[in-house]
Amino acid sequence: MKVTVIGTGYVGLVAGACFADFGFDVTCIDKDESKVAALRAGTVPIYEPGLTEIVGRTQTNGNLHFVSAYQDAIPNADVIFIAVGTPTKDEGGSADISAVIAASEELAPLLRGCTVIATKSTVPIGTGQRLDALFRSAAPDADVAIVSNPEFLREGSAVRDFVEPDRVVIGAEADWAASTMRALYRPIEDRGIPVLVVDRATAEISKYAANSFLATKIAFINEVADLCEQAGGDVRSVADAIGLDTRIGNQFLKAGPGFGGSCFPKDTRAFVSSSERLGIRQRVVSAAVHANEARKLHLVQRVADACDGDLSNARVAVLGLAFKAGTDDLRESPSLFMVPELVRLADEVRAHDPVAMPVARDTFTGVHYGETVDECLDGADVAVILTDWPEYRELDPKMLAGTMRRNVIVDLRNMMDADTLEAHGVSVVGIGRREPVDAPVAHETSGLGQAAE
Ligand code: UDX
Repeated sequence: MKVTVIGTGYVGLVAGACFADFGFDVTCIDKDESKVAALRAGTVPIYEPGLTEIVGRTQTNGNLHFVSAYQDAIPNADVIFIAVGTPTKDEGGSADISAVIAASEELAPLLRGCTVIATKSTVPIGTGQRLDALFRSAAPDADVAIVSNPEFLREGSAVRDFVEPDRVVIGAEADWAASTMRALYRPIEDRGIPVLVVDRATAEISKYAANSFLATKIAFINEVADLCEQAGGDVRSVADAIGLDTRIGNQFLKAGPGFGGSCFPKDTRAFVSSSERLGIRQRVVSAAVHANEARKLHLVQRVADACDGDLSNARVAVLGLAFKAGTDDLRESPSLFMVPELVRLADEVRAHDPVAMPVARDTFTGVHYGETVDECLDGADVAVILTDWPEYRELDPKMLAGTMRRNVIVDLRNMMDADTLEAHGVSVVGIGRREPVDAPVAHETSGLGQAAE
């Protein structure tokens, strides 16, 4: 079976490389010729564990190809995946599918025989129907089935999530298209992993509903954390206490600086706006979106409180800039909200991230970078842990105590061993637990970050 993937972004490249590794003949198309040249040379433009190896291996065995001309990969394809970007379009949060439409218009005249066209990009509910109409008029003689095949990959574990997913969702209206898609996922289904075949709208909704539910879980536990701080509880224990209830589940209950990344913020907003277009209000998810946006800014107050409410003479060390560990992605990262605010308020901001610093240098102004964590912490009054990189957990308490000017860590990921650090004279201010430093809930007590509320 011949597979073509349009778009070598994060989703397209992972899917293309993994299908090639399953043994299918895969061609990935990208308009960007320099990217195609780099990929042919084995250079993977994103940081994703395991991906470089698979791209190398499948190019060497002849299963994976990269081209920039549609003509070279569309006519013979049995399945074409559209995996181009669908960024947020407007204030309302709807997804911009112009790249999906442009790709469809370009490929339509080149179709031959029976072809399944599957959307892997996260597209607004109803896009499948719209593409159906597009192909009926742009390729009236071709035998085409439009399928929705959403991806549930996490950055940093995308290859594993592709090969060992919890489930595969195929939204198809025609039986032949469902069978073709199922054949592609046979290596996964053979391992007992459920492959759900549903109608197209159900698949489109499932993608948004999954991400919106997980994002809402995070927004919820973050507000429980605020309550714990006032009432004297510990959010980590509350998460255990509720998460052991199998109806709730123990994942995505880590309180932190708010959800970021390329999916949750975008997909929650698109879920709300897609629903509104159909006259349905998503009050729960709307509330999660607003709570999350406010949180990213109001946690700046937590840092100020750690310096007696005034950062103007303080040197702040920011540890971690990526939206989560395992990626260099800054999209919608809490750092994008917090770092500029810290630069505005503090005497000096230094930052460190094990992989995101090259991207950060093009993003932030007024920030100094420490090549090493020690350099970043040297002389700092307060260190703020923004990203849950495991290496920060391993920091030597003696080094921390000896390097910083005032020994305070604001641990927005609750990842440090507070008892050991405190035994070495380093105070740790966490999330959702009683603090040694007086840390009132910022949005009720301060003017900071009100723009976001
Ligand atoms: C997410 C979905 O998990 C994935 O299925 C979908 O395909 C794309 O979006 P990703 O954005 O890579 O994946 O990251 P994820 O690991 O889900 O984390 C998203 C955000 O939530 C991060 O900012 C993370 O720090 C935050 N998070 C996650 C929490 O704050 N607490 C948690 O308990 C879990």
